[in-house]
Amino acid sequence: MSAGAASPESPRTAAAPLLDVRGLTRHFTVSGARIDVLSDCTFQVARGEVVAIVGQSGSGKSTLLNLLGLLDRPSGGSYGFDGEDTTRLGEGRRSRLRGEGIGFVFQQFHLLERRTALANVGVPMVLGGVPLLRRRARARELLEAVGLGHRLHSRPHQLSGGEQQRVALARALSRSPALILADEPTGALDTASSAMIMDQLLEQARIGGAAVVVVTHDPKVAARADRVVELVEGRTL
Ligand SMILES: Nc1ncnc2c1ncn2[C@@H]1O[C@H](COP(=O)(O)OP(=O)(O)OP(=O)(O)O)[C@@H](O)[C@H]1O
Ligand SMILES: [Mg+2]
Repeated sequence: MSAGAASPESPRTAAAPLLDVRGLTRHFTVSGARIDVLSDCTFQVARGEVVAIVGQSGSGKSTLLNLLGLLDRPSGGSYGFDGEDTTRLGEGRRSRLRGEGIGFVFQQFHLLERRTALANVGVPMVLGGVPLLRRRARARELLEAVGLGHRLHSRPHQLSGGEQQRVALARALSRSPALILADEPTGALDTASSAMIMDQLLEQARIGGAAVVVVTHDPKVAARADRVVELVEGRTL
């Protein structure tokens, strides 16, 4: 195709970023006093791109990730996801987008205590109506990819912190979401396991075309991201 010719692809799949965050704010009210946690967050994330969010403890990284994951609503600003301003959407649509398009690795894992690793990884697929055999095969494949092929039937309390974190990652990847959000996914891990988690996240971006946003304190993790966004006093730098 010659330079300047019209692209056959729509702008939504080609040039437009998957995430378009503009002037996002979030404040909380505690005992009548207003706390401004996020005062101006502005950045974009493209498909296939890995962005690291860094900042001091308490700077608002998890608060920001909850907004990106549609688990919370901002006080102001806009958050575009795949061309839609999510701040204007009702709960039903937000919940569908969250289930189909977003995989979340929480700082506190949030695994189901009474379910095995295999069942935990299958949860998003149950919600997505994936049949049992396909679900089990996919969950097994993902657990093997994060080095837990020998722990398929263990329950969370029978796993180490780092192993639980890897189960949480496998669960987040199970529906191949367009956006993967990970809050300190290597916080409880040794160097080799952290590298394995980052390998997985990079593979989802490079091969799967996912946009990945990873909150981290670890300079080695940030160094492997395509771009680093720093949160300082509620603003993105
Ligand atoms: N629901 C809430 N109500 C009131 N204040 C809140 C609420 N959620 C978060 N905050 C405050 O917002 C600030 C940022 O919290 P957040 O959890 O986003 O920080 P963080 O950057 O993720 O920190 P860490 O690195 O320790 O995980 C904190 O001062 C916290 O007390
Ligand atoms: Mg946090």
